[in-house]
Amino acid sequence: MNKKYYITTPIYYSSGNFHLGHCYTTVVCDALARFKRLEGFDVFYLTGTDEHGQKVEQKAKEANKTPKEFVDALYEQIVSLWSLLGISYDKFIRTTDDYHVEAVQKIFKKLYEKGDLYKAQYEGLYCTPCESFWTESQLVNGKCPDCGREVKMMQEESYFFKLSKYQDKLMELYEKNPDFISPKSRMNEMVNNFIKPGLKDLCVSRTSFKWGIPVTFDDSHVIYVWIDALSNYITALGYPNVQDSLFTKYWPADIHMVGKEIVRFHSIIWPAILMALDLPLPKQVYGHGWLLFGGDKMSKSKGNVTDPFVLCNKFGVDSVRYFLLREVPFGSDGLYTNRAFLSRLNSDLANDLGNLVSRTTAMIEQNFAGVLPTPYDSIDMDHEIIGMINNLFISVKNKMDELHVPEALSDIWTLVQRANKYIDETKPWALAKNPDNRERLATVLYNLSEAIRVIAVMLSPFIPNSSKIILESFGLKEPKLFEENTTFGKLKGGETVKRTEGPIFPRINIEKELQNMEGEEESTEKKPEITKKHSVEKKDIINIQDFAKVELKTGKILACEKLPNSSKLLKSTVEIGGETRTILSGIAKWYSPEMMVGRNVVVVTNLASASIGGVMSEGMLLCAEDTQGNVVLLTPEKAMESGSIIS
Ligand code: MSP
Repeated sequence: MNKKYYITTPIYYSSGNFHLGHCYTTVVCDALARFKRLEGFDVFYLTGTDEHGQKVEQKAKEANKTPKEFVDALYEQIVSLWSLLGISYDKFIRTTDDYHVEAVQKIFKKLYEKGDLYKAQYEGLYCTPCESFWTESQLVNGKCPDCGREVKMMQEESYFFKLSKYQDKLMELYEKNPDFISPKSRMNEMVNNFIKPGLKDLCVSRTSFKWGIPVTFDDSHVIYVWIDALSNYITALGYPNVQDSLFTKYWPADIHMVGKEIVRFHSIIWPAILMALDLPLPKQVYGHGWLLFGGDKMSKSKGNVTDPFVLCNKFGVDSVRYFLLREVPFGSDGLYTNRAFLSRLNSDLANDLGNLVSRTTAMIEQNFAGVLPTPYDSIDMDHEIIGMINNLFISVKNKMDELHVPEALSDIWTLVQRANKYIDETKPWALAKNPDNRERLATVLYNLSEAIRVIAVMLSPFIPNSSKIILESFGLKEPKLFEENTTFGKLKGGETVKRTEGPIFPRINIEKELQNMEGEEESTEKKPEITKKHSVEKKDIINIQDFAKVELKTGKILACEKLPNSSKLLKSTVEIGGETRTILSGIAKWYSPEMMVGRNVVVVTNLASASIGGVMSEGMLLCAEDTQGNVVLLTPEKAMESGSIIS
């Protein structure tokens, strides 16, 4: 049986728009989850949304919505962001899900019956946006140490969790498991700043707002957001039903990946709650650093956000994933600037990786009519690169086991760069001029193809779309397991090698693009909040027979190009079951043709064909448009066989 690996992100607050910084935790966890799956682990990757609390209640009121309407809209937004970024979670939990609400109520009651909860008056300095009480000594310049905003003195009747009771047990846990909190610096921070000064009991209910899970045995109280939120890691697996197969199979978590500001909740409060519930403890809490923007944490309220939808649609999802995984030293903070982002794309993706693939495939096409040649005898220079290919998996695996993600990528790039140097040294273009060198040319191009194949396999967890495109040009599919796919010699001579259509990573004119980006930022600032009027007019009610007239099916985009002379239209070749159709969509502003290929989509298949710009469009791809005029393609939640009926 495969070893299990349970990995979680924090559940995301449902109180504002999501920015690039938010994507960091999910993208890192996604790369880890994909990596472990390829290693053969039975992975369960959990993410979700944290939907209760005073802040949501306030924001919903400001937006003239009920809290549920408000969180529903944000849920849609985050799910479409994760789908755009290709986040391969196995379960998405919302804290407003009925099963979670019920489970949290049972957890609260259990803690109460055990004597770990008691009622008392709470007075403290409270930061509303962070929903945290602080002591005087924890404040930084009199302000909230997490977000730097004002705190105010508040008093209310609350239930308290006897956190202080678990002080010694927590210390024992850390001593016995020195890696429980990682990196080490965060362990020291927790011990010195919180455990040693003495843990205080924790206020875990509120009477001052209503948008929370009600305490079943005292209806003036709602459960304070941290017991509600932290419990998601077990309720998602079916707890309190400990017989549930998911709970038995996956708990305890192998890793809770969290931003550094919430390490305290995960490494002190959460294990104490689990101890009180007599449950096994997670194996590790990893506190990653922040993506900074101009030296500050990215945050909506500071106005320094970068919109991940815009970046992905403009530069490609893999570019954004690559930047996040590569640029932020794991465990410490990393800096986002438009220039750093564009430079990474140009140097690593377009120049190093893109060039390696395009030069190699072009030379095979030109010299061997697109058929991979069989290699002949190797010389010393070849042995070196073959050795590097064979060693790549283990060095990347070691880095990933240590959660050193940028270093894992850096190892892959060492081979990318070595392979480019191998081209310069072997000079295949010169070899091609003399028929006597044909065998040597064959060997060089074969070795390069093998380097590219192993690089693409190893890149699959990090930049899955590009890895797939590269492998496809060698007639290969995405790997299911690393096993056997990471050693030299798997490709067979005689296979067809195709050049990718257009560059995988187009080179960017950095200065020109910087001007565009800055221009866009300025114009976004001036933009009124809602740029596009959504139709407020309600459509007529239809009956089920009317709805049944619409035929909806899943499709897969096989090819896509811009329609000449149109800045808006993309022409896609869509596979729908046994047939392929041409479909035009006005989405060129949000999707490049490269981003479309391979996507699973939802198609209206019985729409009368129409000629647009001289091309017949045979159906419609469904999209969603928000009030800002942003458009995203609808995708089935999981990849389905194309042609599946949607009803
Ligand atoms: N709801 C709580 C977590 C409860 S878990 C039981 C929360 N939510 S959050 O939306 O504020 O943050 C979600 C994740 O995004 C956290 O890991 C947080 O650290 C991460 N990030 C938010 N901004 C970030 C950056 N600028 N950089 C990197 N990650 C950051 O906290």
